[in-house]
Amino acid sequence: MSRHKLRKFAAIATASNVLLSPPDTKGNWQKNFFKNTNPIILELGCGRGEYSIALARLNPDKNFLGIDIKGDRLWAGAKIAAQDKLKNVLFMRIDIYDLLNYFAENEVTEIWITFPDPFERGTKYRLRLTSTRYLPMYKKILIDGGCVHFKTDHTKLYEFTKATLQENKIEILEDIADLYNTPIDNINLTIQTAFEKKHLEMQDTIKYLKFKFN
Ligand SMILES: C[S@@+](CC[C@H](N)C(=O)[O-])C[C@H]1O[C@@H](n2cnc3c(N)ncnc32)[C@H](O)[C@@H]1O
Repeated sequence: MSRHKLRKFAAIATASNVLLSPPDTKGNWQKNFFKNTNPIILELGCGRGEYSIALARLNPDKNFLGIDIKGDRLWAGAKIAAQDKLKNVLFMRIDIYDLLNYFAENEVTEIWITFPDPFERGTKYRLRLTSTRYLPMYKKILIDGGCVHFKTDHTKLYEFTKATLQENKIEILEDIADLYNTPIDNINLTIQTAFEKKHLEMQDTIKYLKFKFN
């Protein structure tokens, strides 16, 4: 591992806004971690946390938790959130596959999945964050009526996600095949991470799905 990465790992180990596989989180997010009673919103695969930070700035009455397995990426978001003294955003380094170890049933109000890895090769489909490996976990931790927001530039992943939702009788509330050529009234959808900007520069269309479990 490079010295640069090692420095970032050392920094997140002591950062007050980054949790590394923390114990006793289930059912305790509002009281023990955010210290308020506001809704808990997750961003899964948050990378450098740009989306979580922007959502936190736009929605001061909600708590945001950015989750990623890569500590050096989380470090970037944690640094900005600390500099900006944002109290309503935290980061956690875990594998999303372990989600149920960290959240109680009905503890989460919304989930954002922004530009997840498409995991294109063969058997890796099951690693997609919208595969049936993960969807039952989201159902369990979301409140009744809670929803998932999904944004991608990747046409095959978008089609795969729609097909998976339909096969599993999960209700698609919104389906937008070209976000920036569709009138939208939700400012949260217009946040652009560096990753999204790169794809827009390449003339890719951004697709959006909103879904909920019945
Ligand atoms: C392509 S990046 C997108 C980052 C960010 N959402 C954005 O729009 O800039 C996907 C991220 O998902 C994370 N990721 C993928 N699978 C994961 C898993 N099972 N658990 C935790 N993080 C995961 C990767 O580490 C990576 O940072």
